[in-house]
Amino acid sequence: MISVDKLKKCDFKIIFVYEDESINANRNLYDLPEKINKVFHKKYKTSIPFIEEGGVSLLYVGLGEKTKFGFNKIKDIVAYSIKQIKKYEVEDISVDISMFLKEYDVRCIKDVVLGINLGLYELKNYKTSKKQGKCNIFIQGYEGYNEERIVEDISLGTNISDGVMLARDLVNTPANMLTPIIMAETIASIYEGTAVDVEVLDENYIKDIGMEAFYTVGKSSGNPPRLIVLRYLADPSSKDITALVGKGVTCDTGGYCLKPSNSMDGIKGDMAGGAAVAGAIYSLAKNNVKANVVGVIPAAENRISRESFIPGDVIGSMSGKTIEVLNTDAEGRLILADAVTYAIQKEGASKIIDIATLTGSVVNALGFSTAGVLTNNDKFFKEFKEAYSTSGEKYWRFPICDEHRDMIKSNIADIKNTGKSYCGTITAGLFIEEFVENMPWIHLDIAGTAWVDTPLYEYQSKGATGAGVTSMYYLFLEKE
Ligand code: BES
Ligand code: ZN
Ligand code: ZN
Repeated sequence: MISVDKLKKCDFKIIFVYEDESINANRNLYDLPEKINKVFHKKYKTSIPFIEEGGVSLLYVGLGEKTKFGFNKIKDIVAYSIKQIKKYEVEDISVDISMFLKEYDVRCIKDVVLGINLGLYELKNYKTSKKQGKCNIFIQGYEGYNEERIVEDISLGTNISDGVMLARDLVNTPANMLTPIIMAETIASIYEGTAVDVEVLDENYIKDIGMEAFYTVGKSSGNPPRLIVLRYLADPSSKDITALVGKGVTCDTGGYCLKPSNSMDGIKGDMAGGAAVAGAIYSLAKNNVKANVVGVIPAAENRISRESFIPGDVIGSMSGKTIEVLNTDAEGRLILADAVTYAIQKEGASKIIDIATLTGSVVNALGFSTAGVLTNNDKFFKEFKEAYSTSGEKYWRFPICDEHRDMIKSNIADIKNTGKSYCGTITAGLFIEEFVENMPWIHLDIAGTAWVDTPLYEYQSKGATGAGVTSMYYLFLEKE
């Protein structure tokens, strides 16, 4: 819980200091005690505690040089500070944000809140002896600023971080505890009481409306597929409906093109695109953002069974296009193709974003910090670029050429589901492009960014990152 309280004396108070900020002659909080000033160099992401006898203990946190510190570092340094203290069993912590307010005004609040909540985020564990510490956080150091606005922004920021943590929780859940049915039920129950209409369509419906590509993947498992539809229609003044289509493969063994066992590590996380969609729409709805957004999450397992599809099969799709399956491990694009068609035909989508842990190639190309983008629309991408510069996430746009499109042409069907080797991220995205019917479309391949074994930033923890949630959220905010 984060609240404001100018005067509350907490177990610990966090104070941020720039490396080159001169020490004020009038002694105040930011004048480091002489002893500390001598030994503490205030470099970025360093800290030193100052335990006052009988008073509030302080944690001084270095921000580094003022010119090198930027808005996008707030989340990181706040999460760092919280992590320094959360290892102790403290009940309450206060965070003095005056340094950030001075530089960035109240627009720093959301990022401070994200830093706090994501810094406190703990991987749900299934140890029988689990212990989950909770502590209260108090924002301080805002004298002279509008308290009401700060309280409001704390609430907005909390709803954004809740969306990120919702996505993380879903992705971190083991596949046996998150089948497509459970994923649908979990999302439906989380959305109860919100302005989002949740509809869950079962395998019979999926089959009946001709989602053959999705159904083909889903029937490979005894745990049947579900299509999860989230309708958030909160802008009656606009006819635009943006579909967020997220890959929801709750476990990807590769199917008959079985993954080698050392590649099976993250198979439970193959629904991170779907989880990001659920997280982003959750934040939008909780914050009453004026937008028309429909989330479409095809949830399925990709497994081996008597019913599984095999390489060489030719299957249909909801769009009517036929697909030659060359690799059963390229299942994501199959379910997304039908989900995109569903979004256009059944939900009236006029713009499309699809998000998926789609290719190993994107990890080879961009690593774990940067996700891949393909798009057919410069204007839409420009808007998305603004959104991700606000969120601080990193994306990189890949080129599209006809030569790339040629790589997925099939001799016996309209299209094939792999392009042999080379530029796998591009060919995977272009497969989906075949189904977007020339609507403005952005494709996000988050296979590298959805999961970290070693966190890259302080606001991450080992496991799911919640990639995509904040950038998709910011896309729908009205520009200030
Ligand atoms: N879910 C995987 C992609 C993936 C790889 C996600 C690594 C996270 C980490 C996807 O379904 C897949 O297996 N893609 C194949 C496609 C290939 C067979 C054309 C890949 O990228 O190897
Ligand atoms: Zn796969
Ligand atoms: Zn997959």
